[in-house]
Amino acid sequence: MTRYLVTSALPYANGPIHFGHVAGAYLPADVYARWLRMKGEEVLHVCGTDEHGVAITLQADQEGKSYRDYVDHWHEDITAFFKRFRISFDAWSGTARCGVHAETSQKFFSTLLEKGFVTERTASQWYSESLDRFLPDRYLQGGCPECSHPEARGDECPACGAWIDANQLTDPVCTIDGSKPVLRETLHWYLDLPALQEAGLASWYEGTDAQHPHRAWKPNVAGHVTAMLKDLKERPITRDLPWGVPLPEGLEGSEGKVLYVWFDAPIGYLSATMEWAEAQGDPDAWKAWWQDPESRLVHFIGKDNIAFHAVVFPSMLLGQGDSWEGKEFILPWAVPANEFYNLQGRKFSTSKGWRLDSDAFFETYSTDAARFHLLMTLPETADSEFTWEGFQATNNSLLADKLGNFASRVLKFAAKSFEGKAPSSEGGLDSHPSLAEADAALGEIGVRIENFEFRAAAQALMKGCDALNTFFDVQAPWKLTKGDASDLNLCGEVVERCLAYLELLSRRMGPFCPDSADCLRTMLGEAAAGSGKDWGPESDGQPPSRIATGAILGEAGVLFRKIENDAIQEEISRLESAVS
Ligand code: 2FM
Ligand code: ZN
Repeated sequence: MTRYLVTSALPYANGPIHFGHVAGAYLPADVYARWLRMKGEEVLHVCGTDEHGVAITLQADQEGKSYRDYVDHWHEDITAFFKRFRISFDAWSGTARCGVHAETSQKFFSTLLEKGFVTERTASQWYSESLDRFLPDRYLQGGCPECSHPEARGDECPACGAWIDANQLTDPVCTIDGSKPVLRETLHWYLDLPALQEAGLASWYEGTDAQHPHRAWKPNVAGHVTAMLKDLKERPITRDLPWGVPLPEGLEGSEGKVLYVWFDAPIGYLSATMEWAEAQGDPDAWKAWWQDPESRLVHFIGKDNIAFHAVVFPSMLLGQGDSWEGKEFILPWAVPANEFYNLQGRKFSTSKGWRLDSDAFFETYSTDAARFHLLMTLPETADSEFTWEGFQATNNSLLADKLGNFASRVLKFAAKSFEGKAPSSEGGLDSHPSLAEADAALGEIGVRIENFEFRAAAQALMKGCDALNTFFDVQAPWKLTKGDASDLNLCGEVVERCLAYLELLSRRMGPFCPDSADCLRTMLGEAAAGSGKDWGPESDGQPPSRIATGAILGEAGVLFRKIENDAIQEEISRLESAVS
């Protein structure tokens, strides 16, 4: 048994989650975690909301809400969304609500400071005399130093796209009260990434550090990180903000400063694990997950988070040395980052209305259909998109026609011809070519999930269904019911095999479509003995074992309802009218 610490990027508590986020990180992580649990591995899937940072203070200020109320609201909203999507977190928290988050982040900072991996430096920064505070970049507006556009933001120019050094803005004004700021000296702390690179980051990344092994990097991760490591720079990890984790006490010049959100956020994975351990009644339980060299840390993220998970956070972890009761932290074992997921030809945009309203969506369509379609179109190697037509095709032509239809044909036939009981079988069909094909396809699923190839895993499930439908068609058991004893015997064999494969399908589809998997098991009745929560010995492509003769079957129902063309056309018009 191996211990897997699976993390999904902490979403900002700053707006609703959309399907693009789900396809980027949460759904693949959930499928991976569900599959590992079924295999009997030890798994902890950790996540929570990312509740600090200037984007949050800016938005809360604009809405006239307290920071606490603001993040509480989005934390609740995001929690409900993940429930709808059946994302199975074992530990779910938030960086402003986890009781040990601030102290854990401060300890990370202090340790890095003690070890010389954090250095302090003064810099000049815009200060508002009327508000008596330093102004982060996003609170400033002024002339663009590149193109002279008069309304450039402190970090970026909307006209020419240039990244801006806020100190170079001409005639800046504060976006809170319109006052004119002045430049003042202020102290900040910097993470010395070049020093950490030498201290172990480089050898870990290159795979020459035997103590901290990792899987082969995905090409999109390697491309990004290799380029970054050629020119690593120190990064400021403190900010002047009234909201966030304060710097450790007793540090001169640190009043009014907090840790940069990207410093404290990944520590959220650890603090959420500590909180979980505490809730288990075993406060030390986090240590096995984070400090046992045998544990595997797997970060599921979108591509914009690669630098932080493959460079910055590993540096922060290795920079702790043995300061945590004499033990070192493990480093990431895999970072299966995805590219971006768009909606019908454009980027998802909540503010522009280019989005799917999740409440409305789930009133009409099933969670499993959404999950499966996202999995079939994940942005694993390149950006991809959700289209309504594609969603309909996945639901109708794959889930309903291949999987749902096979289940319904077999169960209805068994109800009619075998009084709803599993017939006996001697095993004469074991070497049937369609069943061999089904074995190979269903045996491929785990291998693909293990390699983070979720699209191929979902396709393998469908290939298995194709082979099973062919088996049923070729054997045509309905033609055998009026025949002689040998026909009747063969008919029973066919149905028994189909029931056995349906039971296997209910487990193989479990990580992708958990609700429908449970539903199928209910339909199978006594033919689905056990919890169905184990992957079973068939993972290497073995045929399923026999169903007990006489097992009473449940009632055949509809696993996936078809979606009509009109409904899809309406969805597309609704989306387009929201932005026109
Ligand atoms: O990009 C984002 O949505 C960030 N909130 C992800 C943080 S991941 C982790 F480091 F916490
Ligand atoms: Zn400009």
